[in-house]
Amino acid sequence: FNVPTPHNEPVKSYAPGSAERKELQAKLKELRAQEIDVPMYIGSEEVRTGKKKPLSPPHDHQHVLGYFHEGDASHVEQAINAALGAKYAWEHMEWEQRAAIFLKAADLLAGPYRSKINAATMLGQSKNAFQAEIDAACEIIDFLRFNVKYMAEIYQQQPPVSGDGVWNRLEQRPLEGFVFALTPFNFTAIAGNLPTSAAMMGNTVVWKPAYTQIYSANVLMEVFREAGVPDGVINLVYVDGPTTGNVIFNHPDFAGIHFTGSTGVFQHIWKTIGENIYKYKTYPRIVGETGGKDFVIAHKSANPKAVAVGLSRGAFEFQGQKCSAASRAYIPSNLWDEVKQYLLDDLASMKMGGTEDFTNFINAVIDEKAFDKISKYINNAKKAEGVEIIAGGNYDKSKGYFIEPTVILTKDPMYVTMCEEIFGPVLTIYVYHENHYEEALELVDQTSPYALTGAVFSQDRYAVELATKKLRNAAGNFYINDKPTGAVVGQQPFGGARASGTNDKAGSMINLLRWVSPRTIKETF
Ligand code: NAD
Ligand code: ALA
Repeated sequence: FNVPTPHNEPVKSYAPGSAERKELQAKLKELRAQEIDVPMYIGSEEVRTGKKKPLSPPHDHQHVLGYFHEGDASHVEQAINAALGAKYAWEHMEWEQRAAIFLKAADLLAGPYRSKINAATMLGQSKNAFQAEIDAACEIIDFLRFNVKYMAEIYQQQPPVSGDGVWNRLEQRPLEGFVFALTPFNFTAIAGNLPTSAAMMGNTVVWKPAYTQIYSANVLMEVFREAGVPDGVINLVYVDGPTTGNVIFNHPDFAGIHFTGSTGVFQHIWKTIGENIYKYKTYPRIVGETGGKDFVIAHKSANPKAVAVGLSRGAFEFQGQKCSAASRAYIPSNLWDEVKQYLLDDLASMKMGGTEDFTNFINAVIDEKAFDKISKYINNAKKAEGVEIIAGGNYDKSKGYFIEPTVILTKDPMYVTMCEEIFGPVLTIYVYHENHYEEALELVDQTSPYALTGAVFSQDRYAVELATKKLRNAAGNFYINDKPTGAVVGQQPFGGARASGTNDKAGSMINLLRWVSPRTIKETF
């Protein structure tokens, strides 16, 4: 049995006048004109609690796109029961049948649902058309197709050695119990990948998304159901995090968590699981991709324009709300004037506004909490000594949560915005003496607890090699002469270590193997 060889889904350009742009614009208009009513999905039920909460575009927060029905602890219990009830049939379904369901989901997203998932991501999470296309269309399609390939490789791997009179087998069983998928707001693809990768391997799942991603999560669920994911295999609940966690982490059948989100939440969850460890039937699998403080370091031999482009794209695409976003940079003194000029020119060309206008590059940050947190860092920087704001610095939440792309220049390499994850359009730059490259590499390694992504720019092979060695543990995804963002499924498996996660590389065989528990069988004749 051969599954199709995956290829990365081509990114559509949405060029002015193109058919795809017209279709997407029509879908945006259609969705804006509706007021949808979003239920939870538990087993075969669409659950409407009547406790309705509004869904609004972050760039136009007074507009209501619809309402979702919030649940409580009893709905989490029901979702667990639905997952456990669906488990036997799902895990005993031939893996090829499960593969076919997820390949169909990928095809639905690539075809009939493409404009809907993109429009929902643009409106619900304030991503521009190009960002939505990369995330909500291409990346989730790639996750599904590549994961099916890795899944096939796992089920078809060479069996252990057998001998005369002995037949040894290795059976890949799903985990015993249910899996909890806890997903962040910032990537529709991640929200779709976390429940499906565990489900693919025969597990049944309780999925809790961030409230600010529910609008596109609802479309994903529509696709999964249409593709044939049986009732109860993926149960989608809208219950606040602590309440959900309290039910899940106290349940004896809790078998694993697939998490992406902030480091603080993951550490809290890990501790809670540890405290409850005697309650579980099995040691739960703990897989989490968490925060980042991603770096760019340039060597004195680097091409200044390439460095500036790496910074502006790496830091400000997706409003900097990317775990991989460049947020601290180390620039040698000989290049600084040129890098600065290119960077400021590029920033001046970035228009800010709502996602429905395709000429806007910068859109709104996700919600008021994020806006307040980010603007506080900017405000503090305005008052700090040895720190200068050289671009942006303004913000306004009257219509949407808009923050200008902001560049902070600091004389202190340990200034707070060099160390802490801000998760917004803020880049901090430290200019080091051009002859102190090795010391700058040490700084990169020691400045933050994170180790997600990072980039080195250099035309000097020795400097590249030195950075690669010295920064071995400073990033799970390391880029040479490129921005530290934009990993493509199947090409650059993604994930970080230290405080950035368990590094189980999303969209890889490493990740899928976390969702099975092999059984060795020896038979003698
Ligand atoms: P978050 O940690 O605030 O929330 C993630 C999920 O956990 C949400 O569903 C949220 O409701 C839930 N949650 C929050 N508190 C909880 C609690 N006490 N108990 C149980 N659940 C709880 O993260 P976010 O703001 O949605 O996403 C941004 C963060 O995610 C950033 O730190 C970013 O770096 C990280 N991220 C990492 C990666 C990666 O691959 N490493 C990718 C995307 C985002
Ligand atoms: N996988 C995304 C990137 O690499 C987050 O930018």
